[in-house]
Parts: sequence; C-alpha cells; structure tokens
Amino acid sequence: MALPLRFGVWALTHGSWASRHHPLDPPDASWRRIKRQILDAQALGYDSTLLAQHIMHPSGDDQDLLEAWTGAAALAAITDKIELIAAIKPLLQHPVVLAKMALQIEEISGGRFGINLVNAWFRPELERAGIGFPEHDERYAYGREWIEIVDGLMAGRRVDFKGRHFNVESYQLRPGDRHRSRPSIYLGGESEPARALAAESADVYFMNGQPLEDIAALVQDVARRPRRSLPLRFGMAAFVVARETDAEAQAELDHLFVIGERDKPTRARLVANADPEAQMFKTAAKEARIGTNGGTSARLVGSYDTVARRILAFNAIGVELFMLQFQPVDENMQRFAEHVIPRVRRLQKQAA
Ligand SMILES: Cc1cc2nc3c(=O)[nH]c(=O)nc-3n(C[C@H](O)[C@H](O)[C@H](O)COP(=O)(O)O)c2cc1C
Repeated sequence: MALPLRFGVWALTHGSWASRHHPLDPPDASWRRIKRQILDAQALGYDSTLLAQHIMHPSGDDQDLLEAWTGAAALAAITDKIELIAAIKPLLQHPVVLAKMALQIEEISGGRFGINLVNAWFRPELERAGIGFPEHDERYAYGREWIEIVDGLMAGRRVDFKGRHFNVESYQLRPGDRHRSRPSIYLGGESEPARALAAESADVYFMNGQPLEDIAALVQDVARRPRRSLPLRFGMAAFVVARETDAEAQAELDHLFVIGERDKPTRARLVANADPEAQMFKTAAKEARIGTNGGTSARLVGSYDTVARRILAFNAIGVELFMLQFQPVDENMQRFAEHVIPRVRRLQKQAA
C-alpha cells in the first residue's frame, strides 16, 4: 500500500532559509510576513509548517528572529487546516511548562499541533544565557528524560518521574487533548543518540535532506529499531528548485550559488559556533548546497516532472512528509503547488 504523502513549508522564523542577500527575497522574520506566508501556504494546499526554534539568530545576534511557540499559538488561532509544528530544545523549557503550552496550542488549533524535539547545536545561544552547553550525548540523555515527561503529560497521564535531571511528582495537566491521544512528536537529528531517541519516543523522525541512498540507509537503520507503539514515520527537509526544464532549474541553482557567495563569512561564523560533535554539520560539510538542513542535497532540483519523480522515489522508501524551503519564497512556493504537487498526485494515481 502506498504511503501517505504530505507537503510542508518551513515558516520564515529566521527571515530566510537560503541567501540573506537575494535581491528579490530579503530576510524578513516579522510576524506580519510569517502570518502571510502561512496563510498563503494553507490556501495553496500545503499540509504542514515547521517553526524552527532559536532564541538567538545563528547568523548573528543582530538578526531578526520570530519566537516559535508564541508564533505557533498565534498561527493556530488564524489557520484552520495546516498542521503546525514548533521545534523545542529541552534545555530551554521545563517539561511540565512545555507540555502545558503544547496542549494549549493543540486546543487552539483544534488538534493540528506537533512538537519537534531538537537537541541543540548552536553553542552561544545556551552558553551566553548561562544555561550551559552539555556535551552532545549528554544533551540527548537530558532530552530522553525530558520527552518521557512531556509525552506522559500531553497524553493526559498523571506523571511521576525521578531521573538524573527531573523530579516530577504526581503531575497532571487539564484539560487534556480533546482531539486525539496527544499532539504529535517529531524528532530532528542525525547522530546515533538522535536515532535511538526517535525510535524510542517520536511519532515521526525528521531527517535533513540527503541523496536518496543516504536517506534509504537512515530510514532502514531507524525503522529496524524496537518500538513501544505504532511504527515510526519519516519526514525530510529539502530545498526545491523546480522549473519547466532540467536546464532551467540547473541555471537557477547556479544563480543561487552565485548569490550565496556573499553569505560565506556568515556561514563560516555559524559553523564556528556549532557543536563540532553535531552530526548534522559533519554531513553538511560533504558538499556545497543551497538552503539549511540538507537543502539541495536531497536533489529536488530539476523540471517539474523530475522533481515529482524524485519525491515519489523518496516516498517509496518511506518518506511521508516533505518540509520544503524555497527562494524567493512566495513565487516558488506557489510554483511548486501549481506544477509539482499535481504531478506527484497524478503519478501516484497511475502507480496505484
Ligand atoms: C527537520 C529538522 C529541523 C531542525 N530544527 C532545528 C531547530 O529548530 N533548532 C535547532 O537548534 N536545531 C534544529 N535541528 C537540528 C537537530 O535537531 C540537531 O540539533 C542537530 O542535528 C545536531 O544533532 P545531531 O548530532 O543528532 O545531528 C533540526 C533538524 C532537522 C532534521
């Protein structure tokens, strides 16, 4: 049986997910901008959006940034179909508070909310706040305790938890989730502890965009791990360049690389501030790309037909949710909805 296939867009929480110097797409992380982007995405038929979480902008603390959770709550109130996923770094919020916030946004949205558990890579954000930056695997050990509490509370259970980091006694949140058992749990990360935690605690494992064979290996590795509940599902981030022909798409990609030259100093600073143990950056160092979180490494670059076929190839190996980036955003989000999504649906029908 064919897997479900859904499309999402990265909300512009960071102002831009590609060049910060594109003449037609200057960074804009204002609420006004993001509200318009997500209302447009919903109207165009996108199924989901992801609000990434940073408190300090990784491209520089002078850059504007939308706060993910208050942004998600506001979007919940003004949308009615699109799924809203907000990222959360466990070190930034106590699990009982976070679970309460998640249940509130779930209620406001009428059952469309998900959290994306991310275990942090940007050191200054936590260090300069005085929170500290535990080493890589220790962050995941903290995240493991944290998500167990959040999961129980979001599911309406009374939670007793005694661990190395948390001591929660007979805690229960009301109201619980009136729409389903609890909000969705996504997890994004590539390292071994990220994979283990995803299999243990997530509903959906979110991957950075990579070539098909690498994603197939990742999916196989994570899917074979024991589960306590339903089978794990898979999502992938990707930057799309789709045009009438492969040649036009390639020319546009080349153009984006030229524009991106001006971002190199910022990018170098960002990498210097990242945890060198973060697997995401080790993978990213393998090749140049446009976009974040794998970006064009997923090869969703080509004619509308090429991109539609590649999406179906990823879907055939298990990827259900495609969380997409574009530049310029508005024009290309629309182009993808008009030209690629209908082709994917048509090809899916033919194959059925
Ligand atoms: C789809 C996706 C979204 C992510 N969003 C965020 C985010 O909002 N904030 C953040 O700090 N890290 C984010 N990450 C990064 C990872 O959560 C993780 O911190 C990073 O990959 C380092 O962990 P690793 O060594 O397990 O890869 C995201 C990763 C993926 C795959």
